[in-house]
Amino acid sequence: MKLASKVALITGAGSGMGRAGALLFAVEGAKVAVADIDQRAAELTARDIEAAGGKAIALGADVSKKEDAQAMVATTIAKLGVPDIVYNNAGIEGESAFLAQMSEEAFDRVIAVNLRGVWLGMKYALPHMAAKGRGSIINTASIAGMVAMRGAAAYCAAKAGVIALTRVAALEYGRYNIRVNCICPGTIDTPMMRRVHGGKVPPQALGPSVAVLGRAAEPEEIAKMALFLASDDASFATGAPFVVDGGWTAV
Ligand SMILES: NC(=O)c1ccc[n+]([C@@H]2O[C@H](COP(=O)([O-])OP(=O)(O)OC[C@H]3O[C@@H](n4cnc5c(N)ncnc54)[C@H](O)[C@@H]3O)[C@@H](O)[C@H]2O)c1
Repeated sequence: MKLASKVALITGAGSGMGRAGALLFAVEGAKVAVADIDQRAAELTARDIEAAGGKAIALGADVSKKEDAQAMVATTIAKLGVPDIVYNNAGIEGESAFLAQMSEEAFDRVIAVNLRGVWLGMKYALPHMAAKGRGSIINTASIAGMVAMRGAAAYCAAKAGVIALTRVAALEYGRYNIRVNCICPGTIDTPMMRRVHGGKVPPQALGPSVAVLGRAAEPEEIAKMALFLASDDASFATGAPFVVDGGWTAV
């Protein structure tokens, strides 16, 4: 098992890629703190982990709120121990509108969840991980942080910000034996993607990757990259965006 005796805190783990990551990390031996703004969804993921013989706790937390981020880390430490792995994955798609039409509230909310939430997750976990002297942080960015997408100005800016935060965190905490990386997924068939497209993921959601692998990924295909980054297999990987996009940014 690649994560035997490790403690992992995963946000947005009630659905999609976070849930897939939580299930896979547990199979690989990690004790998992399943955090989500949707407490019920977090409980279902934790229940499924325990039903499969793993160890998990469910935490209701809005990652954009300081108090919730602090409590999420504190409860993980109290119930499972200091996390070896923090996977800051929670995110929202926000409203789709051209830049000038986007409301200030919508802009602020996307930045608060997708960027500030990642920073808060690192801010409150890093001192404990540094004291422990090891750890792996994985942040969920997106290819939207690397290429432009119409109607997604705040989302693209937040995800580019996650890539930048990842680099700075890696630079600052490498001396404590903490690796910090981010994943840049392309089109993944999750409840978020289905919400955006009102059902089944259409070919136009694949962007340029339609000409390469020509399909959306399953959340489990991203979970495998997260597992690699969480594990000692990635012992020399830090400060980097890991692109898993079916070829979107290659063409
Ligand atoms: N689906 C894609 O194609 C795609 C591509 C690139 C990046 N991403 C990113 O991947 C991450 C996961 O997305 P997904 O597609 O699995 O979405 P999803 O909607 O299926 O799951 C996201 C989870 O995050 C939770 N969440 C939302 N706001 C939260 C908050 N403030 N605090 C805590 N939890 C919160 C939701 O309740 C949900 O359970 C997001 O950061 C998203 O931006 C998705």
